[in-house]
Amino acid sequence: MLTLDYTFMLSDAVPGGVTPAAWSGATDAFASAHASVTARHRSGELGFFDLPADASLLAQVTDFVARTRARYRDVVLLGIGGSALGPVAPRNALRPPQWNMLDDDARERWPRLHVLDNVDPVTIVAILGRVKLPDTLFVVISKSGGTAETMAQYLVVRERLVAAQLPLGDHLVFVTDPTKGALRPIATAEGIPALDIPANVGGRFSVLSPVGLLPAALVGIDVKALLLGAGDIVRRTATDRLAENPAGAFAVLQWLADTTAGKHVHVLMPYADPLRDIASWFVQLWAESLGKAHPDGRHVGPTPVPALGATDQHSQVQLFMEGPLDKTVTFVAVGTPLVDVRIPAMHADVPDLAYLGGHSLWELLNTERRATAGALASRGRPSATIEIDTIDAWHVGGLMMLFEVATAYAGALYGINAFDQPGVELGKQFTYGIMGRPGFDASRLAFDALPRPSQDRRI
Ligand code: PA5
Repeated sequence: MLTLDYTFMLSDAVPGGVTPAAWSGATDAFASAHASVTARHRSGELGFFDLPADASLLAQVTDFVARTRARYRDVVLLGIGGSALGPVAPRNALRPPQWNMLDDDARERWPRLHVLDNVDPVTIVAILGRVKLPDTLFVVISKSGGTAETMAQYLVVRERLVAAQLPLGDHLVFVTDPTKGALRPIATAEGIPALDIPANVGGRFSVLSPVGLLPAALVGIDVKALLLGAGDIVRRTATDRLAENPAGAFAVLQWLADTTAGKHVHVLMPYADPLRDIASWFVQLWAESLGKAHPDGRHVGPTPVPALGATDQHSQVQLFMEGPLDKTVTFVAVGTPLVDVRIPAMHADVPDLAYLGGHSLWELLNTERRATAGALASRGRPSATIEIDTIDAWHVGGLMMLFEVATAYAGALYGINAFDQPGVELGKQFTYGIMGRPGFDASRLAFDALPRPSQDRRI
């Protein structure tokens, strides 16, 4: 089960929160946001809603994994943005690095997954130096099939595979748009396997397509359960009744907190190491979807911040407690831990240690979450808590779908398109112009016309 507790988001419980009047007055705004999202989905957009029920995409993944089972020792993922943050979050939630330390058997049975989500040569050289090419599969993920960073990584890897005289079709698999982009025709011409990202699924909403499913399945994650958990959220969010729709309640409360209560910063803070990367994935989803120029000329969008409990209690929580009154914090709580460790009762004569004995590490972590929520509340700072019963594929799929659906609603509430990212284009065009891509001379000229760095302003 996945639940959202928003008691501390409302100002009758926590003074800085959303007023009960604003909350109860938002039912119509939500119904209209829900209708607009549903209409876009029915018109063939927003294909992420359909991924949990897409048996043919799942078959592409499971067939590929069945065909290549036990073939590779290492899998290296090349991608960026949603094509890397997506795969990393479920992988680290469900097969966290700590797990490998515990489970020798799994380490033998499944390949190691490395994710290259940048073009820093230090990392590329390190990973390519560590893997043995004959035992390695490179998964190239790009919806557009043209992203400069991913294409550059691909070219570097391809040159190495060619130099090693390895069959490209055995060591490369593409995950990309069914028809568009540079990768698809290469796959067709050269017999490189290619899995589909449906045309109506955007990068940051693609985790439940082969983008996230293939890497997950390659390392032994139960991808069917991921989809079932996500499907449960699709069902629960079919209603436009705000009080019954957890993604709607999350979206509306964060939107109201931003637009009526000055809470422009939205922190996501899981209290579980395996969920750390869900917060990083959420940051991209919330920021790239909602940070937009509104048609009326305003610039809108909350600033998402990732945090981790209890680690950030010794870092960012000071800011959350006493800094500007501009934040909401959403905790992610886990009902039952995967493992627990009893804290031994020792040093009975040292009060600073003795009180811990007999409790467990999980109890301490969970207590700290409740204490932090309480401390924030007592300073008038709102928070919400999403609780999942346990960290398994079903709940992780549900959690990720909850945030995707909430993002779609939030886009409608802010009155912007949550599914484009025009703001990232100009930097790309400058890069293309400077790197000499044909057709981008004007971008180079525009870049060159910017004020030059001045020596007398350099210290
Ligand atoms: O959400 C998005 O669309 C982007 O963040 C993309 O995921 C990112 O730019 C990578 O794009 P692509 O998958 O086309 O290489």
